[in-house]
Amino acid sequence: MTLHIDEHDDRVVATLDRPDKRNAIDQATVDALHELCAMLEEAPRTLILTGSGGVFAAGADIAELRDRTAVDARRGINATAFIRIHELPMPVVAAIDGYALGGGAELAYAADIRIATPSLRIGNPETGLGIIAAAGATWRLPEIVGDARASELLLTGRALDAEEALRWGLVSSLHPAEELLAAAHGIVDRIAANDPLATQYTKRALRTPRAQHPAIELELQAELFESPEKHRRMTAFLERKSR
Ligand code: COA
Repeated sequence: MTLHIDEHDDRVVATLDRPDKRNAIDQATVDALHELCAMLEEAPRTLILTGSGGVFAAGADIAELRDRTAVDARRGINATAFIRIHELPMPVVAAIDGYALGGGAELAYAADIRIATPSLRIGNPETGLGIIAAAGATWRLPEIVGDARASELLLTGRALDAEEALRWGLVSSLHPAEELLAAAHGIVDRIAANDPLATQYTKRALRTPRAQHPAIELELQAELFESPEKHRRMTAFLERKSR
């Protein structure tokens, strides 16, 4: 098993678990990510993505990549899985220790929230291997850190350390390795205290192309304005009951 799944009522923790290969993402891992997505699409829960052995993921599996052909490239093996992660109904938190390189970095870019440890090394060395980062880096990284910084990172292939990633806003906070998962759970606790439907709709609005604003928000809000949960939560506030 290359992906360890730990299920809770309101969250799922998925741990990339191929430590002898630095959690390199192979086809079996991609298949497991699809299975995970199918489960979370069916029963939406917040997802924490992390890695075992002091590493997030050292990239797509280069042993498999070397033998892939044009047909494989066009299938978008990693891109398809990472897009599905990005589009999960509830938030995705990437808790990143150590290396997040190549496809590993792109998996992290697909998350909504990224936190890391001081040993973080994140970047896209693909051009050094004679390929491009085709599973999200070229469109997601500019959205996260801006065009200029994304271009610098992708065109040089250098990796950022934790402090620089924090400064760039690529990760939101740093935590000692032994506190990383607790910090991720703390974020999920905050999310879990809110209305799940409002959370899902906020994520959907954030994902919507610019031309569709504010029509999408107004439609989502129209539904929420009629929801019993909104009435209950607002009444609780007005009556100062604990929620
Ligand atoms: N794909 C396949 N195997 C990988 C891998 C990857 N992306 N990254 C690491 N591994 C394997 C190594 O081949 C090695 O296997 P082996 O023990 O059978 O020889 C094992 O994982 C340990 O790697 P090693 O390089 O010895 O570990 P390290 O701790 O010294 O270095 C890294 C860690 C991440 C710096 C280094 O493994 C590395 O540079 N990996 C490739 C990064 C990369 O280019 N990713 C982009 C891919 S698109």
